[in-house]
Amino acid sequence: MNSIEHHITKDGSSTLFSKVFDQYYHNPNGAVSESRHVFFESTGLTEAIKSTTQPISIFEMGFGTGLNFLLLLDYYSKLELSLPIQFYSVEAFPADPETIEHINYQEVLGDDSYKEFLRNVFTSLKSGWNSYSLKNYPNITLNLFYGTFQDLEAPETSIDFFFHDPFSPEVNGELWTVETFEKLKNMASSDAVLSTYCAASKARAALAKAGWYIAKTRGALGKREMTIASLNDQKLSSYKRLKEARLIERFDRSDFG
Ligand SMILES: C[S@@+](CC[C@H](N)C(=O)[O-])C[C@H]1O[C@@H](n2cnc3c(N)ncnc32)[C@H](O)[C@@H]1O
Repeated sequence: MNSIEHHITKDGSSTLFSKVFDQYYHNPNGAVSESRHVFFESTGLTEAIKSTTQPISIFEMGFGTGLNFLLLLDYYSKLELSLPIQFYSVEAFPADPETIEHINYQEVLGDDSYKEFLRNVFTSLKSGWNSYSLKNYPNITLNLFYGTFQDLEAPETSIDFFFHDPFSPEVNGELWTVETFEKLKNMASSDAVLSTYCAASKARAALAKAGWYIAKTRGALGKREMTIASLNDQKLSSYKRLKEARLIERFDRSDFG
C-alpha cells in the first residue's frame, strides 16, 4: 500500500497526503499560494534576492514535493536574477517516483523542465548529500540530504534563510525541539531569518529557548498568524515582536507538556 497520496489543492496546485503522519504537505486551500506567502513574501526573501548580487543560501526542513525549490526557480526566472543561490534541503521519507509523476507544478508555474527535474531527483536519491542543478539555472544548486535531520551533516556554508516546513508539532515533534532549533542556529549566518507556517506557542518557546528572537505576522490563506524568527532582532523590526523571556519562562515551567 502506498502511504503517500497525490491531491490537488484549491488553487489548482498539487500537494501530497501522508498516511503515516496523517497530514497534507501543504494547506489544502492552496499549496503554491501558501508556500509563496510563508517562505518568500513574508520573509523579505523576494526583496533580498532582487536587491543583491551576493550569494544567498537557503535551508529547507522537509523537501516533500520539491515545491519550494521550484518556486525559487520560478522567482529567479521571472525576476531575471543572476546571483548564486545554494538551496539545502533534507528528506527522510521521499515519495515514490510514481506518486511524484502526478505533481503538476510544471503546468502551474509554466516551465516544462520542472517535471523532468523532479523525476530525476526522485529516481536518483542516494543516502547523504545529493547535488542537482537545471540547465537553465546554472547559478542555483539544490543540495538534498537523503536521511533524517537528526543525522544531517551540517553544510559548511552559513544559511541566510530557513524554510521550517516539517509536519505539525503534534505529529512531527522531533523537528520542533530546542535541540533542532539549536542545530539550525549553529548553521545560521548572523542575520539569518527563519519562517514557518506554525503559530503554536510550544514551537515559538522552543525557538526562543534555543536563542532565536521571535515575531509573528499574518498567516497564509486566512490563517491569523505565522512565525518569523531571527538571530538578529533588527531583522524583525517590521513585524509584531513576541516576548522571548515570557515564552522561555513558560517552557521552563513545562506549560507545554
Ligand atoms: C510538510 S512536508 C514538507 C513539504 C515540502 N516543503 C514541500 O513543499 O512539499 C514535511 C516533510 O518532512 C519530512 N520529514 C519528516 N520528518 C523528518 C525528519 N526527521 N527528517 C527529515 N525529513 C523529515 C517528511 O517526509 C515530509 O516530506
